[in-house]
Amino acid sequence: MKKNILVTGASGFIGSFLVEEAIKRNYQTFAGIRTASNKKYLSDPRIHFLELNFNNNILLDIALNNFANQYGRFDFIIHTAGLTKAINKADFSLVNFENTKKFVHALKRNSLVPDKFVYISSLASFGPGINTNPITSCQIQQPLTEYGKSKLKAEQFLYANPDFPFLIINPTAVYGPRDKDFFFLLKSIEKHIEVYIGSTEQLLSFVHVQDLVEAIFLSMESSAINQNLLVSDLKLYTSKTFNHIVKKNLNKKTISFIVPAFLAGFFALFSEISGSIRGKAPVLSRERLKEFKAMNWSVDCAEIIKLGFVPQFNLEEGLKHTIRWYKEHGWIKG
Ligand SMILES: NC(=O)c1ccc[n+]([C@@H]2O[C@H](COP(=O)([O-])OP(=O)(O)OC[C@H]3O[C@@H](n4cnc5c(N)ncnc54)[C@H](OP(=O)(O)O)[C@@H]3O)[C@@H](O)[C@H]2O)c1
Repeated sequence: MKKNILVTGASGFIGSFLVEEAIKRNYQTFAGIRTASNKKYLSDPRIHFLELNFNNNILLDIALNNFANQYGRFDFIIHTAGLTKAINKADFSLVNFENTKKFVHALKRNSLVPDKFVYISSLASFGPGINTNPITSCQIQQPLTEYGKSKLKAEQFLYANPDFPFLIINPTAVYGPRDKDFFFLLKSIEKHIEVYIGSTEQLLSFVHVQDLVEAIFLSMESSAINQNLLVSDLKLYTSKTFNHIVKKNLNKKTISFIVPAFLAGFFALFSEISGSIRGKAPVLSRERLKEFKAMNWSVDCAEIIKLGFVPQFNLEEGLKHTIRWYKEHGWIKG
């Protein structure tokens, strides 16, 4: 008998890779989507779709009941659905915290508590490292942004339900094929422009989406339970490393601009206003800027290492792989 797994946020960047991995690992795979979700990367005929409306308890119960009648139970759930950027700050809490709470209550109400509920949170729920010390899972969580706060609230809700078997994954910045956020930086370098906010060098961490997916399945299938797992590629970078690797791979020369923080704030405000006029969440916002300006996003991944996590990609190899994908798919010129 195949085990049943549900991936919410299946239409997104990370979710679509989780669905592919679940199929590869021979799970009966349910992709949690919304009516209007784009299924571009969910074309495998083995995928079962489950429309989940976290804002409507009745529709949510009907969907879960229909699932239970036909397939029984979920062995695992990976709750990836979430907002990383928003037009209104309040939306972070509504989607990342309230929806998680509603979903957990609905699972309990419908007797569909899985063996493990994996919550995809973020390193942002911890906030940056203190001085130059890496972020650890036992430090006091002090998120800088509404996004980070909403993720922390969801984590605290899970910890307040210890009878509910959960695992919290806190990935650092995730990049890889299909990603649109880092793609912005690549496009700028393609246009020979390299931008830095402030002149102080930051400590940064990254993880390639395929390594993150590996870490998620590794921990989900392990005995780890009711804890946080911080995930990066186990390396430390500075703010210049990313651009340097991209420049090398695109074979581009650039002009560097160091934007003072106050000016970056002005650009962020402008992009928020234009985003709200167009009804599109901006990539750069004053909230995001708080994270861009933080000096230390290095991370101690001791717990996931203990589970046997060995990343396949460092940033150099991962970006090379990602850029090849962007070129093959016509996102950037070959
Ligand atoms: N990307 C990163 O660097 C990173 C780093 C750390 C943590 N994370 C976390 O990883 C998760 C996935 O991120 P991602 O980069 O894959 O983002 P993404 O590409 O924007 O995908 C987000 C997914 O969540 C779904 N979603 C958004 N609002 C929803 C709502 N109200 N109800 C139901 N589904 C909703 C989206 O569905 P639609 O397609 O229908 O909009 C989409 O499938 C997020 O929880 C994020 O906080 C991401």
